[in-house]
Amino acid sequence: MSRLEAWISPCFGYSGHRSYAYSLEQAVAESAKQGTGKRKYVAQLSDGEQVRDVFLVAELQERTTKDGSAYLTMTLADKSGSIKAILWNYSRSDNKITREDFVEAKGVVGTYNNQLQLRLLSVSPYPEEKVSVEDFLRKTDKDIEKLLGKIVSILSEIEDRFLDALMKSFLGDKEFMAAFRRAPAAHSMHHAYIGGLLEHTHNTVRICKAFSLIYPQVDADLLVAGAFLHDIGKTREYNYTRSFDFSTIGRLKTHMLLGCEILRAHISTIKDFPEKLAVKLEHMILSHHGQKDWGSPVEPMFVEASLLHFADNLDAKTFMYDEARRNGAEGDEWSPYSRELQKFVYLD
Ligand SMILES: [Fe+2]
Ligand SMILES: [Fe+2]
Repeated sequence: MSRLEAWISPCFGYSGHRSYAYSLEQAVAESAKQGTGKRKYVAQLSDGEQVRDVFLVAELQERTTKDGSAYLTMTLADKSGSIKAILWNYSRSDNKITREDFVEAKGVVGTYNNQLQLRLLSVSPYPEEKVSVEDFLRKTDKDIEKLLGKIVSILSEIEDRFLDALMKSFLGDKEFMAAFRRAPAAHSMHHAYIGGLLEHTHNTVRICKAFSLIYPQVDADLLVAGAFLHDIGKTREYNYTRSFDFSTIGRLKTHMLLGCEILRAHISTIKDFPEKLAVKLEHMILSHHGQKDWGSPVEPMFVEASLLHFADNLDAKTFMYDEARRNGAEGDEWSPYSRELQKFVYLD
């Protein structure tokens, strides 16, 4: 294996739909043993199936039909994914459910707009002490420590003494690393699960390392360090104890600004860290979405920032295609409509 292949090769191959389903079957058996109420996961549901199970309420909205009767739409989730649910015979006065509650839902799975939907017959609060929270938070199926090990080994090749000191400062920050291991990479678009940030950073760092070999004229140390740092603000942009949502500070400041603040705090501990290098790293964080209408306040203005944007986008897009495949059933020619990619994906 060449050096380039060694950097690019993933720690794990793509796990695929089947092995994921198999691990869900194991999880169901485990859950039944522990009496946590979970019978079947969302990813295992199929059209026409009757459901009586425990879910986490990820979203909830009261709505009114044209004739004035109330109904409830919800997104019900567990660690395998989420399903839209609708309750027609609903009275506002007896609603005791709010977002992030656990509920027991009874209903039938149907299809609406090419996507599975749960038509609810009833939904009632389910006691939190009876559930195992691990059943409800989606988590990476990769080995977090192996992903981290690969990142550390690429970062250890950085020669610039200030960037090397900066990387060591982050890797030695126990509180930061605990959040970095756990944070999702997004609210819903890509890698929206525990360990998602680490998985996405692992890919982005390796793509940038590969770019630096293909384009030897670029500053490899700056590019790789920028790749590691680009989404660190996500450790504070989301709440991820029960379901994934924006934190208040995340909503108000974005992960890009939060990332710059976290970066500055670490830089301030390194003696004589060059201000020009600090500003270049900040620019890479701020510009990594590539365009103002994709959330970046500035567009990339030097080649390492531009390459970082492409690496970030490449990994996010590839994830969305993989997710469209996971959302399709075995043997389907087309995926359900992908909101993220805004298209159907050809699976055959
Ligand atoms: Fe980002
Ligand atoms: Fe990113």
